[in-house]
Amino acid sequence: MEAEGQRKKEAIPLLTPYRMGKFHLSHRMVLAPMSRLRSYNFTAQPHAVLYYSQRTTRGGFLIGEASGISDTAQGYPNTPGIWRKEHVEAWKPVVDAVHEKGGIFFCQLWHAGRASKYEYQPNGHPPISCTDKPITSEAQIDGTTAADYSPPRRLSVQEIFQVVDDFRVAARNAREAGFDGVEIHAANGYLVDQFLKDGVNDRRDEYGGSLENRCRFPLQVVEAIADEIGADRVGVRLSPFADYNDCGDSNPPALGIYMAQELSKRGILYCHMIEPRMITQFERVETKSSHGPMREAFKGTFIAAGGYNREDGNEAIANGNADLIAFGRLFLANPDLPKRFELDIPLNRYDRSTFYTSDPIVGYTGYPFLDQTP
Ligand code: PHB
Repeated sequence: MEAEGQRKKEAIPLLTPYRMGKFHLSHRMVLAPMSRLRSYNFTAQPHAVLYYSQRTTRGGFLIGEASGISDTAQGYPNTPGIWRKEHVEAWKPVVDAVHEKGGIFFCQLWHAGRASKYEYQPNGHPPISCTDKPITSEAQIDGTTAADYSPPRRLSVQEIFQVVDDFRVAARNAREAGFDGVEIHAANGYLVDQFLKDGVNDRRDEYGGSLENRCRFPLQVVEAIADEIGADRVGVRLSPFADYNDCGDSNPPALGIYMAQELSKRGILYCHMIEPRMITQFERVETKSSHGPMREAFKGTFIAAGGYNREDGNEAIANGNADLIAFGRLFLANPDLPKRFELDIPLNRYDRSTFYTSDPIVGYTGYPFLDQTP
């Protein structure tokens, strides 16, 4: 009989393989999209090669940081773009490094909408949105500094068509850079979410009012991108329950379920939901709300994100509440997170004060691997 110690240990649920459409994943721990504000001049930098490759495992799935789709898309310093030829060229070595280690890498396409200010806009113009209502809450991305946003300008219908096309071109660019697919950032109070939520969208035309109308622009973006690169390479990130950036909805379950159904109809590869418990961008709280009905309504791969750890991540997979779990802060501070979960050993602690600095090493590529821990 096999001795106890020699018996092959059964893999924890997070470390079991999963097939996401045409992609064969060797485990279920996804690198969550995270802005790191180290892309000087809105261009991916060579230090990103090391950062992403450190977090790559063979068959692992990584979602890149929010990348601006046009010259009006940025809202923070040093976030990368994907709208110019130079941006595409700059991403190529990063994508190549991830592929060399066997990872699957999606580019997150982002437009900040009104969560921006004059200084990030061409010629100092107002940021664009579905509305001209400014953000009134004190929004913070790093937990310390209040961002002061400039009042936005309401897009005309003609201009909305142009933004849809910007998303399409950005998706084409992402594929040209070598990314395996794209994730549309439709969460956290940025442009797409601004259209979705009735707390912001006050339009009286076909892009505002009813749920169907508010979802029109987001779904046009989805369709344009699916048409360009194939629905089997498109994911969408949603946060129906959140009100980050002063962007809340009066009926999150209805919004989340409707979007899940519509995305399902369009054969989108995955739906990536931020947990209702992430009531602020920083802390989780207990809540009775659940994304269960959205998981039910969506037929493709369901990714859950929001303050997960080894224990509740395993539980969510085992219970069928999600197919994959995205880890942000833990992955940021532990480049070898899957290994550490496998061995069930202590994690490096993350240092929030260096999340959003521009240092190319400290708080970025400087977190130690297991074998470097003293
Ligand atoms: C977010 O989704 O919360 C987010 C996106 C882009 C940023 C920062 C935060 O630059």
